[in-house]
Amino acid sequence: MPEISEKAKSFGESVIRAMTRVANRYGAINLSQGFPDFDPPPELLAAAERAAREGPHQYAVTWGAQNFREALAAKQSRFMGIPLDPDENVVVTCGATEAMMAAMLAAVNPGDRVVVFSPFYENYLADAILSGAKPVCVPLRAPDFSFDPDELRRALAGAKALILCNPANPTGKVFSSEELSLIARLAEEADAFVITDEVYEHIVYAPRRHVYFASLPGMFERTISCSSLSKTYSITGWRLGYALAPRRVIDGMRKVHDFLTVGAAAPLQEAAVTALKLPDSYYAELGGLYAGKRELFLSYLEKAGLRHVKPDGAYYVLVDVQELGATGDEAFCAWMAREVGVAAVPGRSFFKEAIDGYVRFHFAKKDETLRAAGERLLGLREAWERGGRRAS
Ligand SMILES: Cc1ncc(COP(=O)(O)O)c(C=O)c1O
Repeated sequence: MPEISEKAKSFGESVIRAMTRVANRYGAINLSQGFPDFDPPPELLAAAERAAREGPHQYAVTWGAQNFREALAAKQSRFMGIPLDPDENVVVTCGATEAMMAAMLAAVNPGDRVVVFSPFYENYLADAILSGAKPVCVPLRAPDFSFDPDELRRALAGAKALILCNPANPTGKVFSSEELSLIARLAEEADAFVITDEVYEHIVYAPRRHVYFASLPGMFERTISCSSLSKTYSITGWRLGYALAPRRVIDGMRKVHDFLTVGAAAPLQEAAVTALKLPDSYYAELGGLYAGKRELFLSYLEKAGLRHVKPDGAYYVLVDVQELGATGDEAFCAWMAREVGVAAVPGRSFFKEAIDGYVRFHFAKKDETLRAAGERLLGLREAWERGGRRAS
């Protein structure tokens, strides 16, 4: 029988998505795969109903419906502080997931080196392999997940691109203006693209604030800014994302995107125009909502005596389970889902280095769900001492 390709063999299934199945199997509260258990804004649901009734139901323009691109360019220009032309600088994709993949395929030649900070969102390694690139990792070191500028300079020498996730998953790191300026200088020195993943652009906790890499002096020309509506409007299932870049890059990406997917769902693009026209107060409220959830969930981690790194952005927290004598690997997370009733992601899947002892929880859940999960986690240490340590 014919064999599947070496590429397809060379990476495993997403550990994050697999943990959702483990959570379902044991009926655990799913704090692994990051998606909300609450509804999107009501005006969005009404717009989706309208679009289901009235259409459009056929293909939109492959790089995005005109009214969606116009609303998106207006909103992003406002927040990013740079002019964006809906006809020149935008491609609408099936989530940031496709935007990142299309960016890599359009920017990188087989054999090129691509720099990735580690820990990283697990898609990036698969993106690198699928585009034929060689990933080179630069470690972000706890507790503030800072990087060594010399290490980054060495990694970038001769590289084609750097992937920058900001705010970052899984660490919750928000890169400072100084760090971003340094990255900009090094990317310029290396003449590399910077492919950003900014899906958590509106989930940043005061006093930190999000700085868009493309808005730094001279950086728009080498930046492909990828993001999506998934997290900002609680619509991860709608699969609406985008990339913003200079015309010469967007032209390449539009072709890649067209042959990958043709386009994102036309009726949902129509409905999401409503989201993109929400007032600025919506984004302030979203930040406030998640700040409250962060306080609530982290208060349980404190009470349970679970060491963690407080996130400055996004909705994840890395918990250090080493002092329990646990590894935080797949077996530990399966045990926790089964015996404690809470599912998390094994930290190992985010690191290039052989680093054990972390698990990642997310807190994009209703307060009542977070309280229920928190109460269960208060019993984690005892359950582990009672039998988990021996069983795993
Ligand atoms: C950093 C990061 N990028 C991309 C995605 C996926 O985004 P989308 O739903 O827009 O494909 C996620 C989802 O968890 C993420 O955490």
